[in-house]
Amino acid sequence: MSINKNDEFIVNIIDDGINGEGIAKIDNFTVFVKGAIKGEKAKIKIIKVLTSHAYGKILEIIDRSVYRKNPDCDTYNRCGGCCLRHIDYEYTLKIKKNIVENVLRKQGLDYIKVNDVLGMKKPYYYRNKLQYPLGLDKANNKVMGVFEERSHNVINTEKCMIQNKLIQSIANDIFTFIKSNNISVYNEKSLKGIVRHIIIRVGIKTNEVMCTLVLNEDKIEKEVEEKFVEYITKRYYQIKTIIKNINSRNTNVILGDKNIVLYGNGYIYDDILGYKFKISNMSFYQVNPVQTEVLYLKAIEYASLKGEETIFDLYCGIGTIGICASKNSKKLYGIETIKEAIDDARENAKINNISNAEFFVGDVEKKLPEFIKKNNIKPDVIFIDPPRKGCDKTAIYTILNIVPKKIVYVSCNPSTLARDLKMFEEKYDIKEITPVDMFPFTSHVEVCALLELKNYQ
Ligand SMILES: C[S@@+](CC[C@H](N)C(=O)[O-])C[C@H]1O[C@@H](n2cnc3c(N)ncnc32)[C@H](O)[C@@H]1O
Repeated sequence: MSINKNDEFIVNIIDDGINGEGIAKIDNFTVFVKGAIKGEKAKIKIIKVLTSHAYGKILEIIDRSVYRKNPDCDTYNRCGGCCLRHIDYEYTLKIKKNIVENVLRKQGLDYIKVNDVLGMKKPYYYRNKLQYPLGLDKANNKVMGVFEERSHNVINTEKCMIQNKLIQSIANDIFTFIKSNNISVYNEKSLKGIVRHIIIRVGIKTNEVMCTLVLNEDKIEKEVEEKFVEYITKRYYQIKTIIKNINSRNTNVILGDKNIVLYGNGYIYDDILGYKFKISNMSFYQVNPVQTEVLYLKAIEYASLKGEETIFDLYCGIGTIGICASKNSKKLYGIETIKEAIDDARENAKINNISNAEFFVGDVEKKLPEFIKKNNIKPDVIFIDPPRKGCDKTAIYTILNIVPKKIVYVSCNPSTLARDLKMFEEKYDIKEITPVDMFPFTSHVEVCALLELKNYQ
């Protein structure tokens, strides 16, 4: 049967896809249907046909899933943030487990045990970091919020079900100030205008807030800047620091290299598992602090440290995983590419009275082999927590050469994790994987995998 744009079909949804879409087959041809749930029967219209698959939209739901619910957000249908708000939360955890199992299957790793996803009791307002672009709408009004799905149109976002309420409220007030003081916002087409992004972080245990304004050019008048600092810090005693970040490049990378502190010291603190952490605006810090503790506890449990081990924390950010694991280890080494994060990590070791830790700036793929060769140090346990693209092959070859007894691999991208596990499989038994729901109601899922050296005595 040929499938063409605008054709209508009645289909059974046979699986859940990775982005909150349902999957149907028409004559064995895959059709992704946005907003459909496995088990549903729906009348759909084909909106796009590609060689290997097509996209359809729901015209009518004929048989409704028991897991379907009314989305609790006004902009849900347009927003590129959440994609699972039309589904019961507990069921979204099953979908995410299924996603992990599917990517493992594709790599021939379907024998690996995947545990149930560790979800949140209250999966709302969980994000400790707000990162909103500013722009102009079609009528040339200033807007601040989330990008529309698959576009750079900004949806005005005054409330968000996954954003910490305090930082959302601060963002709203900053935006009000920008509008009432006629500060221009960045236009991605003309490359003109000043304010590009508002980034706000809160330490949920300390209640300390950091605001970063990302500017296309450092051109806000001094007295307006002073007025702004006074206006916002008087309203919110929680604001500990305000930073201007200058980014004039025409790129999707949000932060530029230059930071100018307008107020406070340029950093805030937060606590994880009883350890205190200094966080600068250039450093990575997990965005769901409740689930970060769940994730780290799982990683530490998998490491099952006895106190005699040398541990490595690769892609360590501000040193959080290693520091949380360090009290049960002999020595901790961390490697991370961002210098500011390593400065924070060193400071974090100090403020937590950890004297057995050393942190190094560098790319893991270069620094790790260099460091091992130079110092002849053999790690017992390696924690790996790379960005979405996963580990570089050189890093994996190096680890396969130095054969630590255990590897605990934390990943925010199950597909690249599965690819990397396939390489580690040569020398490691992949014991199990526990997914953690760090990003409720979005398509993302974090995973923690335990690898043990084969035939290790
Ligand atoms: C997912 S974050 C994990 C950070 C930390 N483990 C945590 O839980 O907060 C990944 C980190 O890897 C760093 N990174 C990215 N590429 C790197 C590379 N090639 N070598 C070392 N670090 C890298 C990033 O700057 C970021 O801090």
